[in-house]
Amino acid sequence: MRPWEVRCASELDALRRQNRFRLLRRGRVHGRWMDLDGRRLLQCASNDYLGLSVDPRVRQAAMAAADEYGGGATGSRLISGNHGALTTLEEALAVWHGTEAALVFSSGYATNVAVLSALARPGDVIFSDALNHASLIDGCRMSRAQVVIYRHADMDHLAQLLSETPCDGQRWIVSDAVFSMDGDIAPLPELVRVARRYGAALILDDAHGVGVLGQKGSGIAEHFGMAASDVDVYIGTLSKALAAEGGYVAGSRVLIDYVINRARPFIFSTGLAPASAGAARAARDIAEAESWRRRKLAALAARLRSGLVNLGFRVTGQDTPIVPVVIGTDHDVVRVSQCLLEEGLFAPAIRPPTVPEGEGRIRLSITEGRIRLSITADHDEADIDFILQVFTAVRNEVPGVAENRATNTTE
Ligand SMILES: Cc1ncc(COP(=O)(O)O)c(C=O)c1O
Repeated sequence: MRPWEVRCASELDALRRQNRFRLLRRGRVHGRWMDLDGRRLLQCASNDYLGLSVDPRVRQAAMAAADEYGGGATGSRLISGNHGALTTLEEALAVWHGTEAALVFSSGYATNVAVLSALARPGDVIFSDALNHASLIDGCRMSRAQVVIYRHADMDHLAQLLSETPCDGQRWIVSDAVFSMDGDIAPLPELVRVARRYGAALILDDAHGVGVLGQKGSGIAEHFGMAASDVDVYIGTLSKALAAEGGYVAGSRVLIDYVINRARPFIFSTGLAPASAGAARAARDIAEAESWRRRKLAALAARLRSGLVNLGFRVTGQDTPIVPVVIGTDHDVVRVSQCLLEEGLFAPAIRPPTVPEGEGRIRLSITEGRIRLSITADHDEADIDFILQVFTAVRNEVPGVAENRATNTTE
């Protein structure tokens, strides 16, 4: 091995010893099923909340867009890659969210990094929720603004930090809308109030709320009876309930023009492939029209949540299809995940660094591993009962994992 490979190998060995080594599986997810190593498992791990990735209309739209515009975008948006599937998708997204404009990127990750690094700059202060997604954290770092972390969803702490922290530039508040590993919803009305009081601009990442929250599925603002334009910078993904790939920012014309001119991940990267844009456009229309999917999802998630709490598991979050079960040590969570697999349920262990650990300024110290169950509209009540049956078996096989008789609220 070369010297740098020796260094990598020794780090990988350390990860294996800590039960934190990650490896890619050759599984195939199809709706509610996962085919893995010759077995068919019930999967509770995907972000395809509305079950649209296998919907024939979405697949057909992907093929039609590829037929019309080709397999790839052929270049960056500002050179040759601004194809019609993207521009019609952006118009539809802006209408859905009631904003002046929207702009699509090649991923949700790229959107967050692009928007934060373009908007915030040295001299600014970003106030960031302690449990924000890695892409927001990386965007904050790349902006070179000062970053101040507030306790998760704690509006008093946020207000205190805003009042105490001097700032000559712009103040920004940055938050996930639905916290991907905790399953709770950010307190949007309070966030907007605090932002206005201290002259801060609010950047919200609604990756897990788009399609899932609100009567028409347009996300967190609709859920709270507010408008997306109450948020200064609204971000969504096409990769979760919208069953495709990509991310977007929606807001004022000035915001979008600025991002087009200043965001390096937008300027120096190839446009989203036509098939993804076509699929997302069809999924957006279905998500808006078929509110029964959201009603079904909410009922299934509530049934699962209360069943797990009754079994004695510690469950966080509420009102979302993300149902995290806090287990404890890395060792225990890996063991539980293996038990689930043996019993026919696919739900991988979530460990640091996805659940962040206590190092650096913008990380929170959480060492508890967790199982993150995500329910989709493809599941039915019998599936939920099966999941509860499997967790009953796990409770017996891994002692001590279901002794926290906590309520199903966020910690
Ligand atoms: C809150 C949040 N934002 C952004 C992303 C990144 O989105 P994408 O997978 O489209 O890159 C994720 C991905 O899981 C996420 O959970």
